[in-house]
Amino acid sequence: MSTFAEDMSRGLSAPQKHTSSKYFYDDRGSQLFQAIMEMPEYYLPNCEFEILQEQSPDIVAALDFTEHFNIVELGAGDGLKTYHLLRYLVNAGFDFTYLPVDISSEAMKQLQAKLQRELPDLKIEALVGDYFQILGERLGVESSPNLLLFLGSNIGNYHPAEARDLLQRFHRAIRPGDKLLLGVDLQKNPNIIRRAYNDAAGITRSFNLNLLERMNRELGANFVVEQFDFYCSYNPQNGEVRSYLVSLCAQQVQLGPTGPRIAFGEHELIATELSRKYTYAELEQLAGDCGFRVASHFRDRRGYFTDSLWVRG
Ligand code: TRP
Repeated sequence: MSTFAEDMSRGLSAPQKHTSSKYFYDDRGSQLFQAIMEMPEYYLPNCEFEILQEQSPDIVAALDFTEHFNIVELGAGDGLKTYHLLRYLVNAGFDFTYLPVDISSEAMKQLQAKLQRELPDLKIEALVGDYFQILGERLGVESSPNLLLFLGSNIGNYHPAEARDLLQRFHRAIRPGDKLLLGVDLQKNPNIIRRAYNDAAGITRSFNLNLLERMNRELGANFVVEQFDFYCSYNPQNGEVRSYLVSLCAQQVQLGPTGPRIAFGEHELIATELSRKYTYAELEQLAGDCGFRVASHFRDRRGYFTDSLWVRG
């Protein structure tokens, strides 16, 4: 796996400069993202929270699993979203094992401790590492049916070809009749989406600029952060939110003592994130292309977001 320095050097040396969004989340970035999730404009977490809080019995009924099953959550993080679903299942006496998967061992330790405390009857096996390695190794030896969870509109951060590739790999890792619950942010009034990604208080702006500060801190780069701005656009014709940093003048930046020297033109962009919003028709298409069938949609009251239940063919 490549390092922060390598990925940044490569992305910033490309003809269209870009950075990988996984590097937003250092300690400072995680704090800022926490603040984004608490902003009134950023509706996504509340929608999915509401769906799992109010519709877990319906979701579980739609799974139609009659024997012991696994719930495998990819990118479980703090597991906060999934808590309501797990609590319902435990209290209703279902026979299942929860397998949260995350790249952060610290997050998995904390999640395991918290769930053992709050849901002592829950069978949990936390797994640390790369999704596909774990899916291959762990589910390869598994005879129970599986529900994969990929929540939080994570799929929206993949470019369409990568999203297909990811979902096809999910398909290969599980068996016919297994299910996937996919959290998807839907296309809606474009003003609502634009406000969510371009908040008035400028928290999203700080979150993006923190990437430059992180390079200064960790790589010894010499970005003059005041010489960059944040820009974000939503295109309702294709459902894409695109976030950028903008170089406000022609300038050169040294990416640390041994790193490359990067030249920026005036108004040159660094693409930092794609957050794609889907239509129901696009989801049907995507599911079909990847060997799944859409069984049902569980949406929040406002119809902003769906937890879409797919069955593997
Ligand atoms: N990846 C999340 C999303 O697409 C987080 C996020 C919110 C984000 N606002 C952002 C990422 C702005 C980059 C820029 O919703």
